[in-house]
Amino acid sequence: MSDQAPSSITPKPKAPITLSTLNKLKAEGKTFSCLTCYEASFAHAMQLADIDTILIGDSLGMVVQGQSSTLPVGVQDMVYHTQNVVRGNSHALILCDLPFMSYATLSDAITSAKAVMQAGANVVKIEGGSELSDTVKVLTNNGVPVCVHLGLTPQSVNVFGGYKVQGKTDAQADKLMRDCTAVVNAGASLLLLECVPAPLAKAVTERFDVPVIGIGAGVDTDGQVLVMHDMLGIYTRKPAKFVKNFLTDDSNQTKDIVGAFKAYHHAVKQRAFPTKQHSF
Ligand code: KIV
Repeated sequence: MSDQAPSSITPKPKAPITLSTLNKLKAEGKTFSCLTCYEASFAHAMQLADIDTILIGDSLGMVVQGQSSTLPVGVQDMVYHTQNVVRGNSHALILCDLPFMSYATLSDAITSAKAVMQAGANVVKIEGGSELSDTVKVLTNNGVPVCVHLGLTPQSVNVFGGYKVQGKTDAQADKLMRDCTAVVNAGASLLLLECVPAPLAKAVTERFDVPVIGIGAGVDTDGQVLVMHDMLGIYTRKPAKFVKNFLTDDSNQTKDIVGAFKAYHHAVKQRAFPTKQHSF
């Protein structure tokens, strides 16, 4: 660590990515990269690699806190990690999860969203489907852009009975499409699909004008996201099928962390990741 730590983590100014940037990329058929991040040094490394969007995910419960699910994470955890990330990155659009039960009522949603937006988030992410329509409307009407996370929604792990691929049957696929329609009509700015069959994610991406981010959802979504620890090979459990280690991959020329982020960003931009091997 250098004696000049504060200035060494000050990123060079770059044009910030906004929702308009993502909408434009979608309209042009171009993709964007997203990684989870929880602190300033990695956020700075992501800026050096031009990562387009950062998610302060409640996955921090597992990868940072060592919990067995995202359920113990609270709003103050999200605020703390968001504050740290935004100090390290002035380029990426910042998405922040509202954690488990922090948006169960409209009043809770407003209080939680206010806290993470004041910490520096640009967009909040909430998990669910059509039942979130009123929440999406209220937040959007109050100046809070919303990303709705559908498919495998980890906050509902106890309902699903494990981390399983969703939307495999025609009935499940129809329901997912109806849920997407409801939240987009309510004003959602982004959708995020986790662990759904690639053809279904493609159909959702083509159906809606809002950008769709995928994880374990095939190559045809508008953006891709991975948990940072997973793509650096820091596993506390067996990695999911959709995970690729970019630290050790041949495409990482420098074999360091910034190199891994650059290799991931480049692979997403080229639609070289995910391959069929990393999709359902
Ligand atoms: O919390 C998180 O990291 C997420 C990703 C898995 C998309 O929601």
